[in-house]
Amino acid sequence: MSFKWLKRYMPRSLYGRAALIIILPVVVVQLVASFVFMRNHLRDITTQMTLTTTREIAVVLDLVDEADSAAEVLERADLLMAALLVGFDPVSEAAVPTSDDIGMFDYSAHVVREVVRDSLPQTLAVEMPDNRVVRIYVSTRHGPVEINFNRRRVTAAAPHQLILTMLFFGLLMTAIAFLYMRNQLRPITRLANAAEAFGRGRIVPYSPTGAIEVRAAGGAFLDMRARIERQIEQRTMLLSGVSHDLRTPLTRMKLGLALLDEEDAAPLLRDVDEMQRLVDAFLDFTKGASEGEPEKVDIKAMVTQVVEDAKRAGKDVSLVETEGEGRVMINALAMRRAVENLLGNATQYGTKAEVSVVLTEKSMRIRVEDDGPGIPEAKRVDAVKPFSRLDPSRNQNRGGGVGLGLAIVNDVARAHGGVLRLGKSDRLGGLRADIVIGR
Ligand SMILES: Nc1ncnc2c1ncn2[C@@H]1O[C@H](COP(=O)(O)OP(=O)(O)O)[C@@H](O)[C@H]1O
Ligand SMILES: [Mg+2]
Repeated sequence: MSFKWLKRYMPRSLYGRAALIIILPVVVVQLVASFVFMRNHLRDITTQMTLTTTREIAVVLDLVDEADSAAEVLERADLLMAALLVGFDPVSEAAVPTSDDIGMFDYSAHVVREVVRDSLPQTLAVEMPDNRVVRIYVSTRHGPVEINFNRRRVTAAAPHQLILTMLFFGLLMTAIAFLYMRNQLRPITRLANAAEAFGRGRIVPYSPTGAIEVRAAGGAFLDMRARIERQIEQRTMLLSGVSHDLRTPLTRMKLGLALLDEEDAAPLLRDVDEMQRLVDAFLDFTKGASEGEPEKVDIKAMVTQVVEDAKRAGKDVSLVETEGEGRVMINALAMRRAVENLLGNATQYGTKAEVSVVLTEKSMRIRVEDDGPGIPEAKRVDAVKPFSRLDPSRNQNRGGGVGLGLAIVNDVARAHGGVLRLGKSDRLGGLRADIVIGR
């Protein structure tokens, strides 16, 4: 037997689950215990009270049976009636009900009837139409008699008081437990928030609090975060250090070459330019997603601007579709660099590029398509790795890059908790690159 289907009905948050685990058993135990207790307790009390009353009635009935005439019956009964607070009226045979009148769910009434019929064998009928009165019809030597008395004499006054008390204290304790539990769960939520923020490239202040297990997880997270930060920092310092140090001698070489005569210098100048381009690409990569701060950005306006810039540089680029409105929390500088890189690739490997932006409640997608050769599915993973250039024959005469463009885009997408997705363009037949991030 599998309980998988149950999963769908389970609360999804830890809070809800903990509440369920604590409250469900308590409620069930309380219900069962009070039901069993009430039943037995009520039965005992009702039986006792009914027996006391029927014993008194039996005494009266004995006297009635001893009487010689009906008139004497009334006389004798009148005296006792007042003393016992019991109503006593002789009735005609026709006035005796043919069956008992007892509420179906009136538990104590059933007990009363049982005891009355047991201890007063001459009983003809028992009526308990409401909560106020009990009527018993009995046969005597002088004809049937109706005996009535207050129901309070045979049943407990307020059996529901126990349930109300239990309910009240149950709710009170539940409320206290809820408050306490919320305090216990808060450290977990804080850890989750800190981890999520770090996943998106933001570092929020966090110090481990709460139960030792949560503290341990928090401490481990802090260690991990520190290590990753250190590594990123080292990578950045290494690459930017090398790049910076290369820049100065490159500039000096350029100056030196300017002094040579043009024919000899031209190929060397091209090489130096090329090297300068590579160094710039390294620097770009090291800055990657780490430069700049997250802010609320109007994506549409930003993409429009990037497209306009590319157009001004003489590229065949157009913004074909935008959907949805609103600002998104992103690192504008990094995102701009990512889109520029995608556009750069599109116009480098194809001849025209089309850009579209889709904003929904939950996510944002920037898509760049081109009419170039695209990237075959098997090579898409490689293309995204740093320093990867796909087989050079494809890139002939296109001024091959360093292989860092897509790596930068991927970095930026991930730093925003999103992804870079590569595919084949339906519109233009070339590469389709999507940056998708959650809002
Ligand atoms: N739009 C595109 N169309 C076809 N191939 C592409 C496209 N963009 C990237 N590529 C391939 O992916 C490789 C990696 O791209 P990228 O990281 O930008 O490096 P780079 O452009 O510096 O060579 C490129 O060498 C190229 O072969
Ligand atoms: Mg490129």
